[in-house]
Amino acid sequence: MYPIHFNELPNGYAALENEPEFDPAIHLALEKPETLYSLSDLGYTGETLESAPAKFAATSVFRVLSAEGAETLYHTVKRLEEFATSNPRIERNVRGGVYRSKFLRDLCLSPDITEFLSDIVGLKLMPHTIPHQLGHLNFNPKDIGKNVDKWHVDTLRFDYVMFVTDPTKNQGGQFQYFKGTKEEMAALKKAGQEVPADRVISPAMPGPGYAVLQQGNLVVHQAKGLTAPGERITMVNGYVPHDPRFPDYSRYDQLCHADPEDVVTTEYSKHIAVQANRFLEQNLVQQKFGENPANIAQDLEQAAEMLQFAAAQIRAGKGTMEHFGD
Ligand SMILES: [Fe+2]
Repeated sequence: MYPIHFNELPNGYAALENEPEFDPAIHLALEKPETLYSLSDLGYTGETLESAPAKFAATSVFRVLSAEGAETLYHTVKRLEEFATSNPRIERNVRGGVYRSKFLRDLCLSPDITEFLSDIVGLKLMPHTIPHQLGHLNFNPKDIGKNVDKWHVDTLRFDYVMFVTDPTKNQGGQFQYFKGTKEEMAALKKAGQEVPADRVISPAMPGPGYAVLQQGNLVVHQAKGLTAPGERITMVNGYVPHDPRFPDYSRYDQLCHADPEDVVTTEYSKHIAVQANRFLEQNLVQQKFGENPANIAQDLEQAAEMLQFAAAQIRAGKGTMEHFGD
């Protein structure tokens, strides 16, 4: 069960009224992707590869929504567009839509989708416990040609990027990922070089409701601008490994660029509390008699480190925004 409740909304947020009810039998049309890329395919080796929660990197295109699901999501998202904000990386995005729209929230928390994605990754996932990392919406900038989002990696582990609008009606506007590591991308950019075209994967999206899943912290990706007038909207939904022993990859310093700092602080600390709670429950509350004292001490230390690391992130505050440029 998802451990965060939505009884209370952040200041300034109000729930939409008269929403359609999310129904997985009507709105979903889950179809497995044909191709999976691994972290090794992208060139990752050594410690990064060993410490990653899964060897999975990214998928080819797969279907998430039925035609009716895509249409209902589009109408919901259009009701949220007026709440778009800007940050140094993305000109127009809506975050926190899951507080306003129950339809969006139920879609993003759907156990059917979570189970389907866990199967692809080969690791049990759960929807991200920072609600602003659920149902993130990108809208194309008003200026033609301007990229929707720059080359970057995500501040979370797993996410899918799904087209809400029909990409076949647009010119440009591709979602792309880099066939390489983030260190290679940083080196290319530092040397002032172009990203070689043969190392960019541009999945062909056949319609709205289709997506790509990625280990977003290790797959460098971007969203291209439209080259002719049109509407391009995508939704990004985040997940964390279900097992709380995997380290947290949230970046408080970066999230403060995207969302109001007080909201980020509350959400981030709740997220860490949930993770620490689940960790303590799994490893200590449920432990058997006769456990090795050194293991028990290590578990207690790991829980303390989780909390202390998060406190240090909050005290350090907002950092410099990180991305690799256009
Ligand atoms: Fe991203």
